[in-house]
Amino acid sequence: MEELSLHILDIVQNSIAADAANIKVEIIEDIEADSLKISVEDNGKGMSEETVKKVCDPFTTGRTTRRVGMGIPLLKLAAELTGGGISIESKLGEGTKITAWFGYSHIDRQPLGDIASTMQQLICMNEQVDFMYIHRVGEKVFELDTREIKKMLQGVSLTEAAVMDWVLGYLTENEEQLYQNS
Ligand SMILES: Nc1ncnc2c1ncn2[C@@H]1O[C@H](COP(=O)(O)OP(=O)(O)OP(=O)(O)O)[C@@H](O)[C@H]1O
Ligand SMILES: [Mg+2]
Repeated sequence: MEELSLHILDIVQNSIAADAANIKVEIIEDIEADSLKISVEDNGKGMSEETVKKVCDPFTTGRTTRRVGMGIPLLKLAAELTGGGISIESKLGEGTKITAWFGYSHIDRQPLGDIASTMQQLICMNEQVDFMYIHRVGEKVFELDTREIKKMLQGVSLTEAAVMDWVLGYLTENEEQLYQNS
């Protein structure tokens, strides 16, 4: 994976696979602290301690009787290459929070990529899930709560072409504003 947004896509898909109804995605770019932090928090089925250990270190944790996933290990590697890392907090039956932090200016730090399209896909293709999306860049912040969008839509589907276009436009515009000098 070459873009952080693709890692986010993968991590959020894990939350969806875990039957989460609420997913919070937060990106914090703190240029002064030279840090970029991503967190994905869900109320899905959670993981046992043993599973958490296994997903962090799929190659060193003994015999595996089933396919080993790569989503979390790849995120971990991408973070560690920049002097960062990941942490996983999870409780069976309650949910999971995965946090990854990166050295902002590190030469190996992947670009964020097309986060507007990534969030649009996640939001529109998973109508059963309520998303909170928060993106901070320095002092600026963009927050989107899909419950508000759904209220506004009054039952119209998020998969309607016109709605999908609107969601992408809204995300794109607000993302651009985060990087404009004020
Ligand atoms: N948010 C989550 N809630 C519950 N279980 C999770 C969550 N995220 C990951 N897991 C568990 O950790 C495993 C590993 O996740 P990972 O993304 O590394 O691989 P994968 O999803 O199995 O495969 P891949 O991402 O390569 O398609 C998952 O199969 C799942 O059992
Ligand atoms: Mg995965």
